[in-house]
Amino acid sequence: MAFPLLGPGRTLRRIQEELETMRVNDVAWRDGRAFTLTYSAGTDVLEVAQDAYQRFANENALNTDAFPSLGTMAKDVVATVLGWTHAPDTGSGFMTSGGTESLLLAVRAAREGRRNQSKIWSDLNIVLPTSAHAAFEKACSYFDVTSRRVAVTTDWRADVQAMADAVDDKTILLVASAPQYPQGVIDPVAEIAALARASEINCHVDACMGGVTLTYLERLGHDIAPWDFRVDGVTSISVDLHKYGYTSKGAGVLVHRTKELRNDQTFVTDNWLGGTYGSSGILGTKSGGPIASAWAVMHYLGDNGYERVTESARTTALAIANHIDRHPSLVLLAQPDATLLSFTTSDEQLDIFTLADNLRRRGWYLDRQGPPPSLHLTVNAIHNNVMTLFLAHLDEAVSESMSGADASPGTSRGAYGTID
Ligand SMILES: Cc1ncc(COP(=O)(O)O)c(C=O)c1O
Repeated sequence: MAFPLLGPGRTLRRIQEELETMRVNDVAWRDGRAFTLTYSAGTDVLEVAQDAYQRFANENALNTDAFPSLGTMAKDVVATVLGWTHAPDTGSGFMTSGGTESLLLAVRAAREGRRNQSKIWSDLNIVLPTSAHAAFEKACSYFDVTSRRVAVTTDWRADVQAMADAVDDKTILLVASAPQYPQGVIDPVAEIAALARASEINCHVDACMGGVTLTYLERLGHDIAPWDFRVDGVTSISVDLHKYGYTSKGAGVLVHRTKELRNDQTFVTDNWLGGTYGSSGILGTKSGGPIASAWAVMHYLGDNGYERVTESARTTALAIANHIDRHPSLVLLAQPDATLLSFTTSDEQLDIFTLADNLRRRGWYLDRQGPPPSLHLTVNAIHNNVMTLFLAHLDEAVSESMSGADASPGTSRGAYGTID
């Protein structure tokens, strides 16, 4: 059987109808039904994001000589993130397409830095807790670096002594997360950074999830464990805008303590027939949409807007955590340090993934993860509107999952990311 060609062109109206038909089974994230993958601070913010995105969707940020507007917006966005992370005057960064690209580049920068400095080319490694994001594995695979994972402590935070034991003269990077994704707790950044400094190793703080939230929680007067450039020894930080910055997908920032460190991230060649090619990240051609959307949403919300949506997400996360903590059959894995949390069950009659299936039937989408088998919630501003309904459905779904009506093990463990 040959693969089909496109057939005759269709009208815009028909295309729109077909697009809407295809999405009927998609999770209703705009209504707050997804506790993963998507973020919403309300329809007005979405409108700003989408309006800016579509204005620049087909502009190309590969060369801002042609589109100085995108250069101006990106610089402004990066400057804001340097401010959020309390970078010194030497601080410098670039926009990326999101967390994964930022983490890839942090590893790549550490590798280039070490190669330039000490001419050590092979068998390099990074030392990181088991809780650090999967994208570090991708980075190690792409850049031929070994990942040395170190078990976390019983409170799910990085075990600094064990990390110290794993460091050797081929270690190029130590990693801390603020917060880590699986249980939502902040690693002891100050201790990890001190270890890195003492060993003259780069230290990356993955604040892809927490960069915006922790900044504004601190401004609101919350006590936040140190995580940014005010910590000696931190050399780079990633902050995603398409998460708690509430901008369109494809926007993150990687900031470095100095421009020299940032130089290790960039790539320049003239070894072809097309002239000098320089790029800050993995992509070549890149849409101006995410840059414009980030710029627009950040200035639309402003500091007061971010304080409002951050407070809302935090309050909702704590209320959900509290409900789970008091539930007789559920076990909260850790009190959330920001807005991410996860839970499992202590009840042998309850299969946690069956519970996820039963929540899905009620329209809720939660991440399934492990080890240990558990469910994960990325709570954001939209969830304040639906929290009461969610908690009622959660209780109902727990009872249903234990009543024998559907006591079979959950249909699937699910996956955080897919290949398709
Ligand atoms: C802590 C952390 N780092 C990095 C990433 C990767 O970000 P992205 O999916 O935007 O590539 C995530 C994604 O959830 C994350 O939670």
